[in-house]
Amino acid sequence: MEKKNIDWGNLGFAYMETDKRYVSEYKNGAWDDGALISDATVTMSECACVLQYAQTCFEGLKAYTTEDGRIVTFRPDLNAERMEASAKRLEMPVFPKDRFVDAVTQVVAANEAYVPPYGSGATLYLRPYMYGKNAVIGVKPADEFEFRVFCTPVGPYFKGGIKPLTIRVSDFDRAAPHGTGDIKAGLNYAMSLHAIVSAHKEGYDENMYLDPGTRTKVEETGGANFLFVTKDNKVVTPKSGSILPSITRRSLVYVAKEYLGLEVEEREIFFDEVKDFAECGLCGTAAVISPVGKIVNHGEEICLPSGMSEMGPVTKKLYETLTGIQMGRIEAPEGWIHVIK
Ligand code: PLP
Ligand code: COI
Repeated sequence: MEKKNIDWGNLGFAYMETDKRYVSEYKNGAWDDGALISDATVTMSECACVLQYAQTCFEGLKAYTTEDGRIVTFRPDLNAERMEASAKRLEMPVFPKDRFVDAVTQVVAANEAYVPPYGSGATLYLRPYMYGKNAVIGVKPADEFEFRVFCTPVGPYFKGGIKPLTIRVSDFDRAAPHGTGDIKAGLNYAMSLHAIVSAHKEGYDENMYLDPGTRTKVEETGGANFLFVTKDNKVVTPKSGSILPSITRRSLVYVAKEYLGLEVEEREIFFDEVKDFAECGLCGTAAVISPVGKIVNHGEEICLPSGMSEMGPVTKKLYETLTGIQMGRIEAPEGWIHVIK
């Protein structure tokens, strides 16, 4: 398979149209057979439920070229399960797990020419999503839906690659107590747009959101969960009912315990504790593990001892082990790697 002529090493995290995407339609209470199509546009009613009432959820996962030249995805079954939770919470029909994994597989295989080569620093990002498509004017769910998967080759999510980030504590919340923070609803990201634009204007890379109930505990950022490392090398990560259950974070917790022999605590983390941590990282599919060097709370700076020039040592070990598993350099736990070809 001849690869596209793309400057893989200089890709940012941006959309590039690829050749094929998968579509399945839900009508009269059932999903159709689904198919790969070439048209990258969507046509729908001006009154579609997604346009009026934001009835949409999505997923994000990546395909990798491994060291030995296979093409794989990482734990797509967990994305299917999380999308099931999102769909149920948003009154949408569930797209079956085996069909979700099959759709992802078909899209990667059909766009093989866009899967970045091993060692290029780029990956193929996959975006499964679902939305309410028919016209709805009273506030109620749609009864016709589309499930789609497209893909796009991407580089690092943050501009500087793996240079430590500076983030700020946001005055805006992204989620509500007992709201939708724990599912991957498009509306959560709409909530974060003003906060991210204003953070960027003020020179910050991302927002740290605090718990919307008491604003005393660390939650997550707009697109990643937090991992902290204590001065005695314990990995600590927030537990909250209003953050997204990150697949990367859940995988890193396992890697920390089972591969690196580290102690891990998943618990509430008060913002007041942050000044005592040795390292901080943002973890997610897009973010992988992006180190944080500085956290600013209304002018008060917390400078992590790991500094502003490189990743802290524990974060680095986690990063190398996780990416080693994803790229086939390190043996993966049973069931983590889904081989496309
Ligand atoms: N938190 C938010 C708000 C996200 O958008 C994401 C990205 O998917 C994550 C966390 C990380 O989740 P995952 O590791 O499953 O990609
Ligand atoms: C991901 O990491 O897949 C995300 O969805 C984060 C962001 C791009 C929205």
